[in-house]
Amino acid sequence: MNTKTTVITPEQLQEQFAFCDRIAAYWVRQGRTPTAYVETYGCQQNEADSEKIRGYLAQCGYAIVSSAEGADIVVMNTCAIREHAEQRVFGNLGALTHTKRRHPEQKIFLCGCMAGEPHVSERIRKSFPYVDGVFSTHHLWQFPEILCRVLTEKKRQFYITDEPGSIAEGIPQVRDNALKAWVSIMYGCNNFCTYCIVPYVRGRERSRRPEDILAECRCLVENGCKEITLLGQNVNSYGKDLDCGMDFADLLTAIAAIDGDFLIRFMTSHPRDASRKLFEAMAASPKIAKQLHLPFQSGSSRVLKAMNRHYDREQYLNKALTAKAIMPDLVLTSDVIVGFPGETEEEFEETLSLIRQVRYDSLFTFIFSPREGSPAAKMEDPTPKEEKNRRFDRLCAVQNEISQEIHSSYIGKTFRCLVDGQEGDLLTARTEGGRLVRFPGDASLIGDFHNITITGATTWSLTGKLLSAE
Ligand code: SAH
Ligand code: SF4
Ligand code: F3S
Repeated sequence: MNTKTTVITPEQLQEQFAFCDRIAAYWVRQGRTPTAYVETYGCQQNEADSEKIRGYLAQCGYAIVSSAEGADIVVMNTCAIREHAEQRVFGNLGALTHTKRRHPEQKIFLCGCMAGEPHVSERIRKSFPYVDGVFSTHHLWQFPEILCRVLTEKKRQFYITDEPGSIAEGIPQVRDNALKAWVSIMYGCNNFCTYCIVPYVRGRERSRRPEDILAECRCLVENGCKEITLLGQNVNSYGKDLDCGMDFADLLTAIAAIDGDFLIRFMTSHPRDASRKLFEAMAASPKIAKQLHLPFQSGSSRVLKAMNRHYDREQYLNKALTAKAIMPDLVLTSDVIVGFPGETEEEFEETLSLIRQVRYDSLFTFIFSPREGSPAAKMEDPTPKEEKNRRFDRLCAVQNEISQEIHSSYIGKTFRCLVDGQEGDLLTARTEGGRLVRFPGDASLIGDFHNITITGATTWSLTGKLLSAE
């Protein structure tokens, strides 16, 4: 397997900026400011990529708008993780026929993880003739070139070659939120969990250089950012491909040393690589949120082996409980898959018992979805859909009770929270553990940390009051 990362040179990026200039000049000749709409599906990695797509679009002179109707460009940044996610994209893509009929000059692009699946690009080629461009995540850095060719050659463009992946530093970004930022520290995945499409569509694991990450974080903090979330499919293997003498724990510590009042979060941690050193680095710095997303996927060692997760039930429990022992206030969350091919009732019960033992603050729960090209899609799967749905409901009931109990135990306690927005008459804030708190207060509080005393709790969120307002 070719695993070599391509590093995009500053000269190659300059060529892309030259395409931006050509596109901007094209619109000047048209005598108006063009508009662009970017729709993002899937995880934070895609959100971060969309910020770069918007960055390029802004550099090409586009104004970013919030609806596809009438926009000169629509970019669908897609997710392939489960079938449902793909169906949604195809449904929404179908609906764009109508907007395009009303505005025939509109250009439509599909990118992101679905664009990396051969059967998807084939379907777009054949059944969606009004889609003007398709590019996989490997080609995001070439978006200006793709767009320019669509505008000038009046020909559909497909940039979908399968590659180990590249790293491009210096793509402009238009961030969604000045207060909270995503920072990708690495791309791709080498784990090949048997159910998962990500390694096929996002390529091999590759880390950004620590100096580039630190410079980006420093710049964010200087510009008033209060929360940085470091992104990677498996952040714990950060640096292994670089030979830079820094692992993820070292990187966290280095970012935490940047001057300023801000909080660092990260996701996702693969349990195999989550180390005591990491937990100790988290415990040592007040700037690193005591929050850990540690997906376990299944409580059964047999299923974990079939998933190719490289840990068993005991090893997982050991890691999770060690993390909790080192950080008593840790907020622990996880992902779990119900109905993996061949999962028996007993194995499902093992998942329930693991949840009861660890007591997660919250869980992201999924029913297994076969992904074309992944090994699990070919495994025998005798369990009927109805039975999987029943297991899923039972699991959610167990977790909801635990979430409710943990949230109720917060009542009366005071947390330092980042006030981040407004919902109706109330302000919203997040505890260090990432729990949502709604409370009455003046909008001038938005953008800073404040102490909030919890007064009420539901399964999903908390209510509170400002400490000084007592
Ligand atoms: N890199 C992360 C996960 C990214 S995908 C990690 O390893 O933890 C997010 C979650 O989607 C996974 O943790 C898994 O629970 C779920 N998932 C991935 N593929 C799936 C599939 N084929 N069917 C159902 N859930 C899936
Ligand atoms: Fe998918 Fe596994 Fe990689 Fe996560 S670690 S992205 S679940 S292959
Ligand atoms: Fe989806 Fe791709 Fe993220 S498949 S979950 S958008 S890495």
